[in-house]
Amino acid sequence: MRTVLLDGKPVSSCLVLAALAEGKEILTIEGLATDGKLHPIQEAFIEHNAFQCSYCTPGFILTTKSLLEENPSPTVEQIRGYLAGNLCRCGSYVKIQDAVMDAAARLRGAAHRLF
Ligand code: FES
Repeated sequence: MRTVLLDGKPVSSCLVLAALAEGKEILTIEGLATDGKLHPIQEAFIEHNAFQCSYCTPGFILTTKSLLEENPSPTVEQIRGYLAGNLCRCGSYVKIQDAVMDAAARLRGAAHRLF
């Protein structure tokens, strides 16, 4: 299952009929970086080592993007709730949560981060 953003909302691409995506904006993890520069969410995931095998990482990053566009200052509970549909078999949840909090701070331009 592969998560993509369809008009900014995370969906499992294999569960969306192609005809329903016509005329809509589709963003994959490959399209998140711009001009060779990683997106701040990607940077936060790397700096927090928020993955092990990385199988789940694109889904978490794209879902985080959707979350932070809806809610730039989520609480830990809101992050857990929004990302609940994503599974990490490696159990990197704590580091993912830290990365999302840090990414939110980066996108708000906050000077203070977790570290
Ligand atoms: S890092 Fe391996 S499944 Fe999440």
